[in-house]
Amino acid sequence: MSIQQWVTPLEGLDSLRQTEAPMASPGAGEVLVKIHAVSLNYRDVEVTKGEYKHHKSAEQNATIVPCSDMCGVVVQVGSSVTRWTVGDRVLSTFLPEHQTGQVTEKELARSIGLPLNGVLATHRVFPEYGIVQAPSYLSDEEACTLPIAAVTAWMSINGMRPMGQPGGQDEYVLLQGTGGVAIAGLQIAKAAGAKAIIISSSDDKLEQAKQLGADFTINYRTTPNWEEKVMEWTQNHGADIILETGGAQTLRKSFDCIAFGGLIDCIGYVSGKVDAQDDRLNVNLLALRRTVTLKGIINGPKDRFEEMIRFYEAKQIHPVVNRVFSFTEAKEAFQFLESGSHFGKVVIKVQA
Ligand SMILES: NC(=O)c1ccc[n+]([C@@H]2O[C@H](COP(=O)([O-])OP(=O)(O)OC[C@H]3O[C@@H](n4cnc5c(N)ncnc54)[C@H](OP(=O)(O)O)[C@@H]3O)[C@@H](O)[C@H]2O)c1
Repeated sequence: MSIQQWVTPLEGLDSLRQTEAPMASPGAGEVLVKIHAVSLNYRDVEVTKGEYKHHKSAEQNATIVPCSDMCGVVVQVGSSVTRWTVGDRVLSTFLPEHQTGQVTEKELARSIGLPLNGVLATHRVFPEYGIVQAPSYLSDEEACTLPIAAVTAWMSINGMRPMGQPGGQDEYVLLQGTGGVAIAGLQIAKAAGAKAIIISSSDDKLEQAKQLGADFTINYRTTPNWEEKVMEWTQNHGADIILETGGAQTLRKSFDCIAFGGLIDCIGYVSGKVDAQDDRLNVNLLALRRTVTLKGIINGPKDRFEEMIRFYEAKQIHPVVNRVFSFTEAKEAFQFLESGSHFGKVVIKVQA
């Protein structure tokens, strides 16, 4: 039996191709997982296009298996494995070595889906400490969306609070766009009792966000000064937490609608990584002006992932899966995510 997998030489979505590899077998302390479903992240598109260069990366292979988020079942355990038995349903973690606390450069250098081989394959070996139990109430397609998008949103809302004491009640939480991180953030915020504000380029997507409980919606295309609307709607309070996924074109606006003492989580850069030449940010003054905490986020550790799963189970949150592609349609799935037409998550069903 062999492994079916997708690989990329990091030269663009067209260079993705399906190949076969010999079946892997787990070594000591490892498990072999049969992968059922994989979810895509913005990062996977960037990686495949050779544009994911802002982290100093360890040596990487010229060609890798992309993607980091999967749900599957343990089919073989190596010697000395104590945590898992055959048949356990598990999820990957983006940084398998990052078990707790602040992420380190060493842990980051072991990210899956670059520089290590990822999960867009029928099988993969994981260290036994690098996976978590999948919540039983979720389908494979729902559960596979949790490792990057949901954990990142969870850490943005709760990472500054003590473990086991998630919050958000009565806070204003601002989400940017309607992609994976933002929609997970919306679901977490609403389940926590927060008031959620969301911006999107599409009125249709804003309608869908309202169905999920969004309290205030703004179209950032038709209302480019959306930060003013945030201030108006919050009666000049501003957002207590902003999940900054926009980057270059949104950060200045986030500084203009953050609450005093608020938290801006620097997560992503879908609107660009570099400030416009004629519109440089003076972050020192902007941070001082409203006593802002600016916090860089890189996913989260395994113990906080498990904390999040307990919250999802208690609140029975079902992640939003926008579209499911078959394994052979992986390239189309990447193109669909790149087009930005999705709402929530895009999933590839690998096998039953
Ligand atoms: N630091 C971390 O640990 C971490 C983890 C996950 C993701 N990220 C980063 O976070 C960002 C989002 O990731 P994702 O996986 O959620 O992406 P995604 O699912 O591809 O969603 C991207 C969404 O961003 C919105 N968008 C595009 N241009 C925008 C703009 N100018 N202003 C506001 N929103 C805009 C669009 O929503 P509408 O169509 O509704 O406008 C789009 O659907 C990416 O930069 C990614 O690299 C970082």
